[in-house]
Amino acid sequence: MPATDPAVLSMGEPLLEFNAAAEGTLENAAAFHVGFGGDTSNMAIAARRSGASTGYVTRVGDDAFGQALAELWHREGVDTTHVVTEPGGATGIYFITRHGDGKHAFTYRRAGSPASRLSPPDVPGEAVAAARLLHISGITQAIGPSACDAAFHAMEIARAHSTLVSYDPNHRPALWPAARARAIVMRSAELADIVLPNLQEGRLLTGASEPADVLAAFAARGPAIVALKMGADGVLLGEGGRTTHVPAHRVVPTDATGAGDTFDGAFAARLLDGDSPLEAARYAVVAAALTTTGHGAVGPIPDREAVLRAAAGGPPG
Ligand SMILES: Nc1ncnc2c1ncn2[C@@H]1O[C@H](COP(=O)(O)OP(=O)(O)O)[C@@H](O)[C@H]1O
Ligand SMILES: [Mg+2]
Repeated sequence: MPATDPAVLSMGEPLLEFNAAAEGTLENAAAFHVGFGGDTSNMAIAARRSGASTGYVTRVGDDAFGQALAELWHREGVDTTHVVTEPGGATGIYFITRHGDGKHAFTYRRAGSPASRLSPPDVPGEAVAAARLLHISGITQAIGPSACDAAFHAMEIARAHSTLVSYDPNHRPALWPAARARAIVMRSAELADIVLPNLQEGRLLTGASEPADVLAAFAARGPAIVALKMGADGVLLGEGGRTTHVPAHRVVPTDATGAGDTFDGAFAARLLDGDSPLEAARYAVVAAALTTTGHGAVGPIPDREAVLRAAAGGPPG
């Protein structure tokens, strides 16, 4: 056990990332940069780099990919007390290729991963009860039925112990059918204190089109805070009956992978440190923007000093 329980606990699937070094198709790629991904792991690292004590809950294999992830969390100071290593398990991986139009293509090998076998007994009840914030995503629920059960179990424990529930739908159409996603995401919004959708998935999941209407559809489920992420248009923040637009921090983006996850982690860290939701969102849009200026998900996640420097208009350092 860690000396003290982490304030932030995130649960889901981590992935090793292979990012093609040059533009082109997968079969023509000559070299890859190895990195890290998995939305909830990204969130945990973003929260940690912004100053929160953080732990991660998952299952990995005892393969080289799982070991690399364990070393990452160790380096970052993310607590791994509740990471289970599965003998013979094949940790999930994904490939990123970039094409001429600036678009990225993602190719996953994750079906049957150890994380997809997360189940309610993997949920550390005492740590969830002791944490100040639990983070779950739609991907945590989409990767397998027992993982979905684990997510609901964790959220119920959190609610029973006044641990804030932070929830990002992160809808991935390849992982589950839209009707199931809609039902599970909207139910999860009822269990959450903070809901963090992006505009595209928000439209698909609620059927609304205008950002304010998408936000209202999530808010109607009861969370105290909804932060609707709108890419270069920033964030629409709904809280206490008010809706406030938080403009994006201006950058020249090269790769938006992980921007939403970084927003989630930075937002959580600042809220727990006493910021108002609006102050936390103003900080988190800067953190999220900075992650779009480098390749891959985890590498470019900024630490607190880099965010504050950029927010003050200074150079990226
Ligand atoms: N091109 C961009 N310029 C500045 N900030 C950006 C840009 N793209 C994303 N962001 C920031 O990252 C946040 C999350 O990105 P978004 O693309 O909306 O979500 P997701 O990564 O979940 O798809 C945005 O709300 C915004 O604050
Ligand atoms: Mg997202």
